[in-house]
Amino acid sequence: MPSAKGQPREGWPFVISRLYPWRVTWMNLRAVEDALRTSAFGRRILYLSSTGSTMDVARAEAEAGAREGTLVLAEEQTAGRGRFQRTWVSPAGKNLYFTLILRPEAQRLRSLSIGAALAICQAVEEIAGLEPRIKWPNDVRVGERKLAGILIEGETSGQTPRYALVGIGVNVNYDVEEAQEIAAIATSLKRELGREMDRELLLAAVLNRFERLYHEATGSVLEAWRARLETLGRRVRVALGGETYEGLATGVDGSGNLLLELEDGRTLTLEAGEVTLQT
Ligand code: BTN
Repeated sequence: MPSAKGQPREGWPFVISRLYPWRVTWMNLRAVEDALRTSAFGRRILYLSSTGSTMDVARAEAEAGAREGTLVLAEEQTAGRGRFQRTWVSPAGKNLYFTLILRPEAQRLRSLSIGAALAICQAVEEIAGLEPRIKWPNDVRVGERKLAGILIEGETSGQTPRYALVGIGVNVNYDVEEAQEIAAIATSLKRELGREMDRELLLAAVLNRFERLYHEATGSVLEAWRARLETLGRRVRVALGGETYEGLATGVDGSGNLLLELEDGRTLTLEAGEVTLQT
């Protein structure tokens, strides 16, 4: 049955794994679909009440041949994970936890995390009127607190990507004070605005923005991402592979790598790492 917008409908292939109706606020997927302006992103959604990590479900789906844009969305993750093997706090019915399956060409791989971070910022601005900034490489922050995180995983065959998994977690209606481990460093839209936000509209806005950026010229996306980086011009400490580097973050190169000017005048080009802002 064609949808109102002329897009073929997917037939609502939702997978409900376990039900906790007494404590889960279910998302209205019809509202998500109505707000979507994409051709592929989110046009097929696997919706789980509870899962370990959407990354693992998405990996299995990708291996089984899921097409580009397939979205794995969960109300709760019992083993949500972040970068550097950290736990991603994922309580039920409060936030957004999803993984998007993409099948990018090799030259688009590096810009996935840039596009995702920028898409979240733009969507939050559109839906909530806040102006998030990005801590290099892709932490989305409001003030000094983290609002959203991005985890990218994937598989290649030789030099050719087979698929990429873009995992996104956004704190929407969670009272972050409830989780001791993130109470002092995280925020949510509810915390910033003093009221609950519509998760459906936010999800659709992220997907709409991300699909557009995914197809845009890499240079213009990089420029818009760079303009949101709060890291530049600041003294930072970067932890990477057991080493720590301190210096002035002077810029990013054309691939999004951080340029770090050390005390001795040398400039390091860092592809990844965890940044601590010092001033
Ligand atoms: C980070 O900032 O460290 C990345 C956090 C990524 C969290 C998301 S939530 C959806 C997806 N599933 C996971 O287990 N992690 C990502």
